[in-house]
Amino acid sequence: MNDYRQWVAALRDTRDLPDEALRTLLETDAADELLREAADAVRRERYGDAVYVRGLIEFTNYCKNDCYYCGIRHGNRNASRYRLELDDILSCCREGYALGFRTFVLQGGEDPYYTDDKICAIVSSIRDRYPDCAITLSIGEKPRESYQAYFDAGANRYLLRHETATDSHYRRLHPASMDPENRRRCLFDLKDIGYQVGAGIMVGSPYQTTDCLIRDLRFLQELSPDMIGIGPFLTHADTPFRDQPNGSLTLTLRLLSILRLMFPYVLLPATTALGTIHPQGREMGLRAGANVVMPNLSPVTVRKLYELYDNKICTGEEAAQCRGCLERRVQAAGYQIVTDIGNARRGTPS
Ligand code: 5AD
Ligand code: FES
Repeated sequence: MNDYRQWVAALRDTRDLPDEALRTLLETDAADELLREAADAVRRERYGDAVYVRGLIEFTNYCKNDCYYCGIRHGNRNASRYRLELDDILSCCREGYALGFRTFVLQGGEDPYYTDDKICAIVSSIRDRYPDCAITLSIGEKPRESYQAYFDAGANRYLLRHETATDSHYRRLHPASMDPENRRRCLFDLKDIGYQVGAGIMVGSPYQTTDCLIRDLRFLQELSPDMIGIGPFLTHADTPFRDQPNGSLTLTLRLLSILRLMFPYVLLPATTALGTIHPQGREMGLRAGANVVMPNLSPVTVRKLYELYDNKICTGEEAAQCRGCLERRVQAAGYQIVTDIGNARRGTPS
């Protein structure tokens, strides 16, 4: 117990630990309460009880990739595919703006239908109408020139989970056509262009080991992203990983706390996957150090179709207003939703 106390304090004070101490913290549940308390204290020091909201618009579930874990992979013949056109996307933004959203996250599969020109037209239309909002893209791996064009059109944030920093692990999660080197190249290009960048992983993805997680933490130290998105791996019945077990709720919460201590400034979402693995998962995530929620703004008619994993929450008629639902949940967990665009607070707290 003494060791745990010292390690948690060292993690808080130096934002780092040797690999072997990290390994022990990752592999035991004995330090979870200490980690959670320290992470919540660090978050309150830096962010108070503020929780930032981002409105998620899932605008296409077509994807040319075939990631073994993902329900909208190209090879899934059972997925019914949809695309939202510019007008549909703009009405999601209009509704979102009226509900108080000041960040729109446009997420989709890697869908060649949306050429760079189309993406730029979407981004600049949103930018024209909502100059006070942040526009986040999450549309996968692209050449640097494409990222530059989206940025010039008005996008300012980009989410691209690195999925795993261990190349051999990456190759077990993806077909040979996908290259971990290229994914990292994308993240560093995005940063270099001036985007605020989000990386991240699935916790408990098949073949993940503690070594993988330690390497992920080291990679994140190198990248220093503004946001880190993590959630449990969840099985999808129409993928090659249909027989693999779900990731663990407790390990996800533990990692959220470790991330909060290592990256005090970072934006850390309590993800939909966390809310799917446990009815109170997002609330537990907030208490473990998360400070972002991403209510779904996609039309209710398509929400069920953007199914990366089975049993995704917020897909029924009753979930038309995720914003209201999450506001109540965030408050019940002891925090407050704020509506400013919420940049990562990298400076020392005042
Ligand atoms: N379970 C949990 N998360 C998943 N993602 C994709 N498929 C799954 C799954 N089966 C995550 C990936 C991706 C993000 C958009 O969703 O990490 O980057
Ligand atoms: Fe979507 Fe609760 S957040 S229904």
